Amino acid sequence: MIAVIGATGNVGRALVHRLVAANSPVRALTRDPERSGLPAQADTVRFQLDDPAPLFTGVTRLFLYAHATTPALLDTARRAGVQHVVLLSSGIIADGADETHPIHIVHATAEQHIRDSGLTWTFLRPNAFAGNAFQWAPQIRAGNTVRGVFANSLTAPIHEDDIAAVAERVLLDEGHENTAHRLTGPESISNTEQITAIGQAIGRPLDYVEVPPDQAGPELFPHVPPHMLEGMLKIFAATVDTPPEITTTVEGITGVPARPFSIWAKDHADDFR
Ligand SMILES: NC(=O)c1ccc[n+]([C@@H]2O[C@H](COP(=O)([O-])OP(=O)(O)OC[C@H]3O[C@@H](n4cnc5c(N)ncnc54)[C@H](OP(=O)(O)O)[C@@H]3O)[C@@H](O)[C@H]2O)c1
Repeated sequence: MIAVIGATGNVGRALVHRLVAANSPVRALTRDPERSGLPAQADTVRFQLDDPAPLFTGVTRLFLYAHATTPALLDTARRAGVQHVVLLSSGIIADGADETHPIHIVHATAEQHIRDSGLTWTFLRPNAFAGNAFQWAPQIRAGNTVRGVFANSLTAPIHEDDIAAVAERVLLDEGHENTAHRLTGPESISNTEQITAIGQAIGRPLDYVEVPPDQAGPELFPHVPPHMLEGMLKIFAATVDTPPEITTTVEGITGVPARPFSIWAKDHADDFR
């Protein structure tokens, strides 16, 4: 059986749905099973850190997020019979990266705990998520103008279900042991172009109005913890007019090309209405 920790996350939920559709036994670990809305075919169980051992009974493979990756949890999982762990890490882990950046530290620490755990592993290192566009949802629901930083910030946003598709293959197939996969969407797109694509998806023209970063308060970044904001702005600044990394790893592993942002916007149109 495969266990998914963080089963209601954007990627975790998509992965649970994929494993259910593939008739692959899956235990969905979530802090609040009653409100999870996960498919009935998944074995949905409350994720409790004070007594984690029973969570892993019968589990051989585990998907988890960096925030859940502790030595104690990994040790419990290994003792219970888990052999392989797939971590949703980050593309920030790269040669020449700023190793003092808080986001680097979170993911590098999680990767190190896993390397030290005695489990085999696969690290998924995606760059920008298409879902980061949810930061604009409150403004788009309220009107046709979106205020934000760095109109010409270029990224290759990846659909959460493409990350889940890679995770599914890595969990079910052999050959990904002790390997890191860099994941991106298929094309470079600016913030302005993302807003245009969302406007097309919801049938309403939208404008992106650039705000200087020193005037960008936390209200523009509802999903970014305030202590991370400065570090995030530093990352965004480096992407202005800079072509992003684009990999073909999604297609290489799943056989299906990564979806462009316009498809993500159509898939999530209702979230912006
Ligand atoms: N955004 C990006 O551009 C980007 C780029 C590279 C990597 N990443 C990585 O991807 C992650 C985001 O993925 P996502 O969008 O799928 O995540 P998400 O939607 O925020 O979901 C994470 C899930 O983990 C569980 N969780 C959250 N906080 C927790 C806590 N304090 N303790 C225990 N469980 C907690 C929750 O599941 P339950 O409520 O079901 O327990 C939550 O739904 C980031 O945190 C980062 O590590 C993001």
